[in-house]
Amino acid sequence: MSEPIDLAAFPHDFAWGTATSAYQIEGAVAEDGRGPSIWDTFSHTPGKTDNGDHGDVACDHYHRWPQDISLMKRLNTNAYRMSLAWPRVLPAGSGAVSAVGLDFYDRVIDGLLDAGITPNVTVYHWDLPQALQDRGGWTERDTAEHLAAYASVVAERLGDRVTHWATLNEPLCSGWIGHLEGRMAPGLTDLTAAVRASYHLLLGHGLAAQAIRAAAPGAQVGLVTNHSTVEPAGTRPEDLAAATRMDGHTNRWWLDPVYGRGFPADMRELYAVDLPERPGDLDTMATPLDWHGLNYYFPATVTDDPDGPVPHAREVRLADVPRTGMDWQIDADGLEALLMRLTDEYGVRRLYVTENGSAFPDTVGPDGSVDDPARTRYLEQHLAACARAVRKGAPLAGYYAWSLLDNFEWAYGYDKRFGLVHVDYATQKRTVKTSGRRYADIIRSHRQLWS
Ligand code: FCB
Repeated sequence: MSEPIDLAAFPHDFAWGTATSAYQIEGAVAEDGRGPSIWDTFSHTPGKTDNGDHGDVACDHYHRWPQDISLMKRLNTNAYRMSLAWPRVLPAGSGAVSAVGLDFYDRVIDGLLDAGITPNVTVYHWDLPQALQDRGGWTERDTAEHLAAYASVVAERLGDRVTHWATLNEPLCSGWIGHLEGRMAPGLTDLTAAVRASYHLLLGHGLAAQAIRAAAPGAQVGLVTNHSTVEPAGTRPEDLAAATRMDGHTNRWWLDPVYGRGFPADMRELYAVDLPERPGDLDTMATPLDWHGLNYYFPATVTDDPDGPVPHAREVRLADVPRTGMDWQIDADGLEALLMRLTDEYGVRRLYVTENGSAFPDTVGPDGSVDDPARTRYLEQHLAACARAVRKGAPLAGYYAWSLLDNFEWAYGYDKRFGLVHVDYATQKRTVKTSGRRYADIIRSHRQLWS
């Protein structure tokens, strides 16, 4: 049974897209002068990724991008969220610009536009040039300035055709998972480093937003952040306080500075790390945006964990709730709630769901088809939630399904498949899954409403 989706809620010019990121799909890591990134280093460090997987080849999108654009057309999409590999454009992170690297993105952008697909370009999706990491990476202020210089280079080259830009993808993951939990590159477990990194990421966001606008007047600039709804596991005051801390860690720390409120006082006190503040930084971080991108996957239920790591709140695994192959709880209401929070509490004037999707272990049938009912249902439920939010006033302008293709799922490697299109990594054969066909049908139905 398919979930009813109130398609008439979505405006006629709704962006129907898919999303990917450079390191997860491109491969060709040593080709045409690309420099190493922290994800090359991390994934080639024994024990850091499942099966020792890395992005050396990935989906070979670097060579197969014309075919991948054809797939976007087959899905009926009119938008595509992609990222640029910083080390392809500036192999050492700063200084010399690679003309070949820029040419690659130039061709992809032209290919998308020729296909009637509007690119939404993320400048930084986690692949920091290793040369900058060697000088301290995000723990150093210089990295924020280098990001802005890089943003200026790409906006100058592509800004005559790319109208939609995002500065960063999910700074929470770079900051907390990369520097505090150590499960992502650069793999640190150091609260001081993590808090400094979070500060410089948000500063870099503001500086990059300004740099993009200076290089490409009229650019629509946004930020992509990931969030979870946070519920206390019970009614104990300790659990309520734990939920407030987790909300601060996951949501408010990343949104309050961007929307002009500064860093939340309760979290500053909890982290007890001096911020590398300079006058004017908060204004830079709060540079007004044209849109906000929400990445949503799962909700969180937490209990007090006084002896555990910051924020002393532990996620509780609920029994008897639906889950994806990542073991992430499925809760489409959480997407609706977060869209409303961004609308009502933060006053966002234009929203996109820049990522949403699910991994399940797919099987290829004897006839070569990939039937993925669980992923199809996840897609339908979350689109239905988007429509409910629009009816309640959320200014939602588009939805980008994660992901176009199965790809390198960071520390989880290639076993976790999020694609609407299946990739056979041995042959690089692409097969549109049932979920991809359903997405194409939904988009077609929406278009028919307006024709
Ligand atoms: C997000 C990332 C994206 C992808 C999905 C599953 O956190 O932005 O690259 O890995 O999760």
